[in-house]
Amino acid sequence: MKFTTLAVHGDGKPGENTGDVVPAVHLATSYRQPKLGEFQNHVYTRGTNPTRLALEKRLALLEGARYAFAFSSGMAATSTAFHLFKSGDRILLNDNVYGGTFRYASKLFGSIGLFYDLVEDFNTLDFDGLPGDVRGIFLESPSNPLLRVTDIRRLAEQAHGRGITLMVDNTFMSAYLQRPLDLGADIVVYSATKYYGGHSDILAGALVLNDEEKAEKVKLLQNTLGNPLSPADSYQLERSIKTLALRMDRQCANAAALVDLLRTHPKVKRVFYPSIGEENRRIQESQSRGFGAVLSFVLREGCDPGRFIGALSLFDFAVSLGSVESLVCHPASQTHEAFSPELRKKAGIEDGLLRLSIGIEDIEDLLADVEQALEAA
Ligand SMILES: Cc1ncc(COP(=O)(O)O)c(C=O)c1O
Repeated sequence: MKFTTLAVHGDGKPGENTGDVVPAVHLATSYRQPKLGEFQNHVYTRGTNPTRLALEKRLALLEGARYAFAFSSGMAATSTAFHLFKSGDRILLNDNVYGGTFRYASKLFGSIGLFYDLVEDFNTLDFDGLPGDVRGIFLESPSNPLLRVTDIRRLAEQAHGRGITLMVDNTFMSAYLQRPLDLGADIVVYSATKYYGGHSDILAGALVLNDEEKAEKVKLLQNTLGNPLSPADSYQLERSIKTLALRMDRQCANAAALVDLLRTHPKVKRVFYPSIGEENRRIQESQSRGFGAVLSFVLREGCDPGRFIGALSLFDFAVSLGSVESLVCHPASQTHEAFSPELRKKAGIEDGLLRLSIGIEDIEDLLADVEQALEAA
């Protein structure tokens, strides 16, 4: 079956014998047990919950994966992935990784004995020159906010040759556009708050993988760190996932039209999008079915990003991405503020950079709004 059919129908097996066409929301936090020494399937909701399990099954199906786990946020999924490593291990991150992930590495790795290094371009990483303690790579492709694309297939081969675990934050793509496990990655994490949720009203995360031993550890971590997704949010997320492909197709088409406008506009100095740059485009086309719906750009000297933001009427000035409504944000102060000014400069996150997350509105209205805001800038 194809993606949207799977998203709507799952494996076709209802969870219980009620005939419900949607999963029930099991709000109970505790479950009656048959008798002393005997346990039934569910004991306590932090460990397992039927509504969450139904969602996790659907997430695994969409990814073509053996295991999926739903978390209370994207950062809960990411930090759980980091907990799979042991004290003394070093993890490489891309240098414009999501600010919250960088905050975790820079502020908390020390207390769990992990080390990290930032890598500018994984496509040209010299594996022979790496320190011997590198055990993991964590990257986003396309990266945020500069939409640089990494060749996941090639990196997976190189990493596995050295026993390094490859983790991909696939938030910007979703399993509809890109399936990193199929490309050789070991672990995929999501901020499901973004495209999976799609309506700016669910905070959620997911971790997907095939390795049984690691899956057992993730299950232990989810229960022990106590960061699973609630039953109500699990239900809402499963509902949103059914329209993921429809939303994504429209959002990608809208983004492509806006990229065309920005690239030819006299007030725009530079546009960042996975289809821009020969190498970027080639790799993206080889591993994904679309370019996504996030783009960034820099205005020409003399234009004022603040005036541009202020003049927009359809784009809300807010962090986050992936929802039905279009948003504009200022990465230097809103998503990458955890980076020092020097690190931001090194990673190419200029103060004048703006990021747009494109929604499902009618493209004529989005184009008109951006055009008039560019005039005002
Ligand atoms: C790429 C990426 N990964 C992870 C996260 C963290 O997700 P959450 O906000 O759901 O914790 C975000 C949030 O913006 C993100 O953009």
